[in-house]
This record gives sequence, structure tokens and C-alpha cells, in this order.
Amino acid sequence: MIDAISFTNGTLRYLDQRFLPLQENYVETRSHSEAIDAIKTLAVRGAPLIGVAAGYTVILGLQSYNGTKEEFPAYFDNLIADVEASRPTAVNLFFATARMKEVYDRHFEQDSLDTLFNRMRDTATGIHDDEIANCDAMARHGVELIRRDLGDTLAKRKLTVLTHCNTGTLATGGSGTALGVIKHAWKEGLIEKVITAESRPLLQGLRLTAWELEQENIPFYSISDSSSAFLMQKGMIDFGIVGADRIAANGDTANKIGTCAHAISAHYHKIPFYIAAPVSTIDITIRNGDEIPIEERNADELRTIFGTQVATPTTPVINYAFDVTPNRFIRGIVTDKKAVVGDYDQQLKQLID
Ligand code: MRU
Repeated sequence: MIDAISFTNGTLRYLDQRFLPLQENYVETRSHSEAIDAIKTLAVRGAPLIGVAAGYTVILGLQSYNGTKEEFPAYFDNLIADVEASRPTAVNLFFATARMKEVYDRHFEQDSLDTLFNRMRDTATGIHDDEIANCDAMARHGVELIRRDLGDTLAKRKLTVLTHCNTGTLATGGSGTALGVIKHAWKEGLIEKVITAESRPLLQGLRLTAWELEQENIPFYSISDSSSAFLMQKGMIDFGIVGADRIAANGDTANKIGTCAHAISAHYHKIPFYIAAPVSTIDITIRNGDEIPIEERNADELRTIFGTQVATPTTPVINYAFDVTPNRFIRGIVTDKKAVVGDYDQQLKQLID
């Protein structure tokens, strides 16, 4: 099992995903600003893992606190604000800081700082444990839905699935969201091969998903993002499944840039397109996709490819890290509680309540 992130004796240890798959660099830190930087630079990435890392980053910040109880509220507010400023789209980050703030609001007055810090450390560990368990649940619900929706095809042959970005152990700490469903479907004998789209500009599909599939000995091909429509046209893809960074109350879903194009092509070719994400990724406070904050990242992510300049330093660039897939292009949303098909307004609300 890939060890994407761990927290032992006050030290955060993570696998630096910027250098994968060619280098496996593990980093250890006790500094919350280094941990925040790891989130900003995508050394640690993927919505559920960002949530897990955010929890542990708060603990690192608490560990280095040596002021009084009276001064702590201001310190805590700044710490949370710094963690929340690391990346805007993945709501799991804010889910984690909300859990920490809940503990603070409930216990700060009566607890000693040590007791409070211990509660928060248990909460951070709990967030990690939950994301691991969520993956197993999504794998089961996802395979059930695939059997239900693609039973006729499965009666004749195994399936080819398209996925985008990386949604595996590297993005969750568990078996994965969409990639966890794929791994389980493979074990269940439903999958012939996986098509993993490269996911420009940082190539999470080509670098990270390919690496995880190799580790699992699951057959796959990597493709350029722009070729998925042609493979669908040629009948080479049976269904698509991807992850999510934030799901609005109506089911509109933000995920890695390029997802929406795959979903629209799938809709046109009458191919089911699924989202897999834990309930911690659903933001019921947001009515639809237009309200989801979409991260724009540095232009050099396009002008250079992993340090190699490929365009002039002045080439004008728009670099959205995520896009929004409208709910009408989504056949089903697989969560840790159940798989939801259609009527997202009602069904997603019930999952949260
Ligand atoms: O920029 P990244 O690599 O953090 O983007 C990750 C994605 O878009 C994933 O698909 C999403 O976070 C789900 S990860 C289980």
C-alpha cells in the first residue's frame, strides 16, 4: 500500500507527489508552514488527502505554540486562516478546519491547552481514518451501480473505463475514490482495461494514476486529454468515472480541468459518466456550480513542462486548475453512504442531514 501521508510522534510524513513516478521522495516535517506549502505546491494533493493534511497541519501549528491560554484564540484564528488560504476549491480542506473549529468552540473554555490539543489531534487522526473507510464504502457502492447500469454489456464482456486526474491512494490515503471503485471492479472481474487521461498541465493521470495502476497490475493505457472523445466515437469506452473537489447541492461537480469535456463527450455518445466522492466533498451551502470557487494557478505551469520552458515567458495564459461539470452530464454520484442517481437536490441533502 502506498504510504501517501502519516503522522507519528508529532511529525508529518508525506510522499512528495511532484516527483512521482520517477522519484519516491518522502518528506518529514514538524513545521505547519512547510505543510501548508506542500498543499499549495501539490506535493500533497487530491481533495480528501488535502483535508487529511489540513487536519495534521493544524496539529503542527498547535505543537509549536508556546504562548498563554489568553493569547491562544488569536493564534488559532491565524493558523486556521493560513491553512484555509492554501487552496480554494477542494472543500475537504474546509471540512477539516471546520471540524477543528468545532472542537475549539466546544472545549476551549473548560479545557487546558494540552487537553484541547489532544482532542484536536484525535480529530485529525479521525479525519484520516474516515477517509480510508470512505474509500472502501465507495468501492462497494460504485461496483453495485456499475453492475446495475452496465449489466447487459457485462453479460457479454468486461468493461473499459475512462478516468481523469488521480483519485487513488495518493489522493485519499485509502484505496481511492474513482480509482478505488476501479480497483475493486477489477478485483471483481468487471474491468478489461483502464484509460487514464494525462490531465494537463501537471499530468496527475499520466504520472500518478498510471503509477498506481502499474502497482496493482491493472491493465491500462494513458491518453492525451483531447483524445477521449475520439475513443468514445470508436466505441472504445464503456463508462467514465472521476473524482470531485466540490459538489454543489444540485450535483454540479468541480474536478480537475478537462473533466467537463470528457463528461460532455460521454453524454453525446450515450456513455454513463460517474462521480465518486465522499460526503465530505459535498458542499450543501452552495446551490450550483457557478458558486464554486475555481482555483487559477501560475501561468508557468503551462509555459513550462516540469521545468522545461516550452513557451516564451511572456506567453499569455489562463490556467484554471478545475472545471465544473453540470449535473445533467452526470449519470450518478457514488458516495460513502450510497450511490445517488439523479434528483441530486433532494438526495444529496438527505445524505448530509
Ligand atoms: O489539483 P489536484 O491534483 O489536487 O486535483 C485533484 C483532483 O481534481 C481530483 O480528481 C479530486 O481532488 C478528487 S481526489 C480523490
